[in-house]
Amino acid sequence: MTLIEIAQKLVGQRKGILAMDESTATCNERLESVGVLPSPERRRAWRDLLVTTPNLGNCISGAILVDETIRETALDGRPFVTALDEAGIISGIKVDMGAKDMAAFAGEKITDGLDGLRARFADYAELGARFAKWRAVLSIGGGLPSRGCIEANAHALARYAALAQEAGLVPIVEPELLMTGDDSLEECGRITEALLRSVFEQLSLGRVALDGMILKPNMVLPGLKCATQDPIDTVAGATVRCLLRAVPADVAGIAFLSGGQTGELATERLAAIRRIASLPGKDLPWPLTFSFARAIQWPALQIWAGHDANVWRAQAALFKRADCNRAALVGNYDGAMEQHAA
Ligand code: G3H
Repeated sequence: MTLIEIAQKLVGQRKGILAMDESTATCNERLESVGVLPSPERRRAWRDLLVTTPNLGNCISGAILVDETIRETALDGRPFVTALDEAGIISGIKVDMGAKDMAAFAGEKITDGLDGLRARFADYAELGARFAKWRAVLSIGGGLPSRGCIEANAHALARYAALAQEAGLVPIVEPELLMTGDDSLEECGRITEALLRSVFEQLSLGRVALDGMILKPNMVLPGLKCATQDPIDTVAGATVRCLLRAVPADVAGIAFLSGGQTGELATERLAAIRRIASLPGKDLPWPLTFSFARAIQWPALQIWAGHDANVWRAQAALFKRADCNRAALVGNYDGAMEQHAA
């Protein structure tokens, strides 16, 4: 498949991309938060639960794995990549090595992982990955992010994306502005726009084919601790406006991250964004979808809590979130869906 074909399969079917690419440390933290003693076997059991959820392929087009998972087998002995393939889901791989303190930029991060990336891409392609992800993380507030931090991260994203395309993998480019503080929606919009403009400038300089890549941005939101929590339609309008200003029309698609929003709120906002996108005269140039981790996994993780007996209920909860988000994409989401048992 060409880059354009892979990208279209990922974003053009009104299905989402499941992010299950938590690093070992983050996955362990999440397991501990529901009382599971972390170990390689427990991580594998949790990821098996996600991947083998019945009918997941009806709502999910791709799943982002981590190095550990792409080399492992599901509990029934099939490689995870095969299990996903048989469910109609394309495998992807997170290739960045995490956000590290940026020298000379107190309080800011730069994402590591470019060294040796060409060889790692060849390996991942051999293992069955057809797309990749790299996440840059920028903090907001107190004058941050600085221009230096924005440009360094944008440059790294572009170098990663070019290497991914060279290896035949579609890059998901994820510049995330963290909205965990008390910053306003207006501030988030202003900085998200500046960040996206810088990213696309670097992608252009880096000769990345935009129709063979997917952007994974934050929505334009008030911070989680902001006293003013703007209405859903305001968030949706600000998000669409920001994207129209900063994202070139030939990008293959846009897949939102959830960024710590609850599952229901992320779905409601996605549905509102889709409503605006389908208004007469709007005609957004790119397909929109979701690529959530927490907002799709969390209810399932709480139900599972490490017990085999809870697997089917946890899978039902995962499917419910995936299905609600798919409904948001096709314009059928209704809050009443949340009341139905998973
Ligand atoms: O790297 C982060 C994931 O791609 C998205 O995670 O939906 O929990 O923000 P999130």
